[in-house]
Amino acid sequence: MRIAVVGTGYVGLVTGSCFADLGNVVTCVDVDRKKIAELKKGIVPIFEPGLGEIIKRNRNHRLFFTTDMVKAVQASDLIFIAVNTPSGKNGEVDITNVKAAAKAIAKSINRYKIIINKSTVPIGMGDIVTQILIKLGPKDVSFDVVSNPEFLREGSAVTDLLRPERIVIGATRRSAAQKVAEIYKPLNSPILITDLKSAEMIKYASNAFLALKISYINEIANLCDKVGADVVQVTKGMSYDSRIGSQFFNSGLGFGGSCFPKDVAGLAQIGKENGYPFRLLPEVLAVNQYQKKLFLEKVRKAVGSLKGKTLAIWGLSFKPNTDDMRQAPSLTLIPALLAKGAKLRAYDPVAMAKARVLFKKIKYCRNPYEAAMGAEAILILTEWNEFKQVDLQVLKTTVKHPVIVDGRNMYEPQEMAEKGFVYHGMGRGEVAHF
Ligand SMILES: NC(=O)c1ccc[n+]([C@@H]2O[C@H](COP(=O)([O-])OP(=O)(O)OC[C@H]3O[C@@H](n4cnc5c(N)ncnc54)[C@H](O)[C@@H]3O)[C@@H](O)[C@H]2O)c1
Repeated sequence: MRIAVVGTGYVGLVTGSCFADLGNVVTCVDVDRKKIAELKKGIVPIFEPGLGEIIKRNRNHRLFFTTDMVKAVQASDLIFIAVNTPSGKNGEVDITNVKAAAKAIAKSINRYKIIINKSTVPIGMGDIVTQILIKLGPKDVSFDVVSNPEFLREGSAVTDLLRPERIVIGATRRSAAQKVAEIYKPLNSPILITDLKSAEMIKYASNAFLALKISYINEIANLCDKVGADVVQVTKGMSYDSRIGSQFFNSGLGFGGSCFPKDVAGLAQIGKENGYPFRLLPEVLAVNQYQKKLFLEKVRKAVGSLKGKTLAIWGLSFKPNTDDMRQAPSLTLIPALLAKGAKLRAYDPVAMAKARVLFKKIKYCRNPYEAAMGAEAILILTEWNEFKQVDLQVLKTTVKHPVIVDGRNMYEPQEMAEKGFVYHGMGRGEVAHF
C-alpha cells in the first residue's frame, strides 16, 4: 500500500518505519525541517531500540521523508495523522496540530483517500476532521476518516508495533476499516473494528486505567511505609490473582512521559466538557504528583539539609530504554534539589544529550560510578538495567556515604543492608512517618 504518515515523532516515525518494513511504500511528513533533513541523511532523531536498523533497511527504498505535504498526500492512498496532541493550560487536549494536519490534507487531496487518526484525540475528533475535509477539500473527491489509536510504549515501540496485543480501528464505513486492517494482517494480532467514537474512547480509557493502577499501588506503598509492610511483596502477592496481574504495577515515583499525565488530564477535561466530571481521575494525578514530594522528603530525611551536599542522580529519562524526558520525574526533582542548594552529578545511559539542554547546572558523568563519586546519597530516578548490575563493593568505595534513595524500588532492602548500604525505597516498610 502507499501510505503517508503526517507527524514524524515517536509514534509517526516508528509507525512509518514498521509499515515500510511490512512491504508498504511510506512517506513520512513533518513540519520540522531539521528533523526531516536529518532523517534524509539517515540520522535517527530519537533513541528507540531496533528503530535505526529498520530505517536503514527501508530508507530510500520503501521509506521516504519530506516536508512536502501535497506530494506525500497525493502519492498515497492511506494518510495517517500522528502529530502531537499536548495538554492545554487546564489539562484540555490541544488539537491545534491535528486540525492543521487535517487542513493541509484537505488542501492536498486529489482522489479518494482514507485519513486515519493515530494521534490520541478527544472523542469526536473524527467528526471534526471530517468537517474540515468537507469544508476545505475539493467537492468532487470522496474520503473516509478512520480512528486507529496507537498503544505502543516508548522503549519497546518497535516490538509493540510489530506484535500488538490488539489493533483498534474505528470507522463509519466498514470497507474503510477493512482497508486499514489489511496493513496489520501480517501481524496476526486481534483486530477490533468499531465505531469512530468508541475507538477514540478506548485509547483514553486504557491509558487512564493504567495510570490509575500506578497511583493505586503508590498509595498502598505509602501506607506500607507507615505500617511496616513491603509493597514489593504485597504487589507480588496480589499479582498472582489473574484479575489483577503483574504488569504495570510498580510503585515509586509515579508515571511520566508524554502520554499518561496528559491523557488522564485530557480525559478528566473531556468528562467535564460533557457533563461528567470524573471523581477518580483528578486524584490519580494528585497521587502521582505527591510521589515526587514524598521522594524529596525521603532525601531530606536521609541526608539532612541539602545545602552544599553532593548527590548522585541515576536516570533522567521518564523510563528506561528511551531518551524521552517529557514529564520525567527528573524535571520536577532536579530543580527542587538545586533550589535547596544540592550539587548534582547525573548519569543516564541515553538521555543526557536531551538533559543537557534542560539543565545546565549539573555535572554530567560517564557512568553510574563517576556520578556517585563523593556523593552523600545516590538518588535513583529511572530503573535502567545498568543500575541493577553495578558492583556494590566498588560503588561503596566511590561514594562519601553509602546511602541510596531508590525511587524505583530496584533493590532488595535486606540485601542492601547486608552490603552495608543505608537503603530507602518507596513503600518498603521503613515505618517512616512523614
Ligand atoms: N509517544 C508515545 O509513546 C505515544 C504512544 C501512543 C500514542 N501517542 C500519541 O501519538 C501522538 C504523537 O505522539 P508523539 O509522542 O509521536 O509526538 P512527538 O512530539 O514525538 O511527534 C509529533 C510530530 O508531529 C509533528 N507535527 C506537528 N504538527 C504537524 C503538522 N501540522 N504537520 C506535520 N507534522 C506535524 C511535530 O513536528 C513532531 O515531529 C500524540 O497524540 C500522542 O498522545 C504517543
